[in-house]
Amino acid sequence: DWTMANFVEQEVEKIQEKVGDKKVLCALSGGVDSSVVAALIHKAIGDQLTCIFVDHGLLRKDEGDMVMETFRDGFKMNIIRVDAQERFLNKLKGVTDPEQKRKIIGNEFIYVFDDEADRLKDMDFLAQGTLYTDIVESGTETAQTIKSHHNVGGLPENMQFELLEPLDTLFKDEVRALGLELGVPEAVVWRQPFPGPGLGIRILGEVTDEKIKIVRESDAILREEIKLAGLDREIWQYFTVLPDIRSVGVMGDARTYDHTVGIRAVTSIDGMTSDWARIPWDVLEKISTRIVNEVDHVNRIVYDVTSKPPATIEWE
Ligand code: XMP
Repeated sequence: DWTMANFVEQEVEKIQEKVGDKKVLCALSGGVDSSVVAALIHKAIGDQLTCIFVDHGLLRKDEGDMVMETFRDGFKMNIIRVDAQERFLNKLKGVTDPEQKRKIIGNEFIYVFDDEADRLKDMDFLAQGTLYTDIVESGTETAQTIKSHHNVGGLPENMQFELLEPLDTLFKDEVRALGLELGVPEAVVWRQPFPGPGLGIRILGEVTDEKIKIVRESDAILREEIKLAGLDREIWQYFTVLPDIRSVGVMGDARTYDHTVGIRAVTSIDGMTSDWARIPWDVLEKISTRIVNEVDHVNRIVYDVTSKPPATIEWE
């Protein structure tokens, strides 16, 4: 009968049969799907798998190190970390339009892969964390749009890979169960959705070093407090945004003129619609106080109380 352990055994055999002694490339983002697909394929073929992890400098706090600890140190995977922060930031200089920012980040991913091309030359397969729902929904615009923005969608066209998509019969909850079966840490398996362009679309207006720092640090505080309050499984997504607003504040005897940070937290089933999360006021108070005290150049915190529709989950 059907158990996760049997599924793993079957899939491992299928992958071994299909790949033979050839090599597989996986673009690892640290998200649930690409992490689980990498773990599964690694179990099947070990060192014949190479993962590429691109750090575009728009990840959340400590995220890049966590990916490396989990997969390089924990699973002993071949994984190449490409530190491309400067490249992305340079390209984003002066750009304020959100669609333009998405395009630039998406294209830069392709260029980064292109620069890795020599290493990729002897790869035969490309592993992707495509789920059953991705296939079913692939006709709808939303899924297309989301996937096309995602890191994995963009690889140079001249690279010819055969696709390896061992999760394509699974739903998200089954992928999580599979991840746990394979020893993928809970923090990864239960990671909240995070857009491919990362913090780049949570900073309204131009992306700068200072703004990345503000949104990253405030987001880390928010995540810590939500977890402490035991709300991290209940809330679908929770993050901070930087709306590019400054306003007057007061600190001691002095007047300040600093950034406003927005808190976005929503409940949802699939991200298509959502409601704003009723975070208890004392938790919000603690988050607000900590962000203002601990993050430089922030003097005001606002809470987003709109559902989707009419708003979207992300501010961009
Ligand atoms: P919106 O803001 O459109 O977001 O309500 C719906 C869901 O999609 C996520 N999102 C993305 N996911 N790549 C992704 O993988 C992206 O470019 C992207 N943009 C938005 C968003 O976080 C939310 O869960």
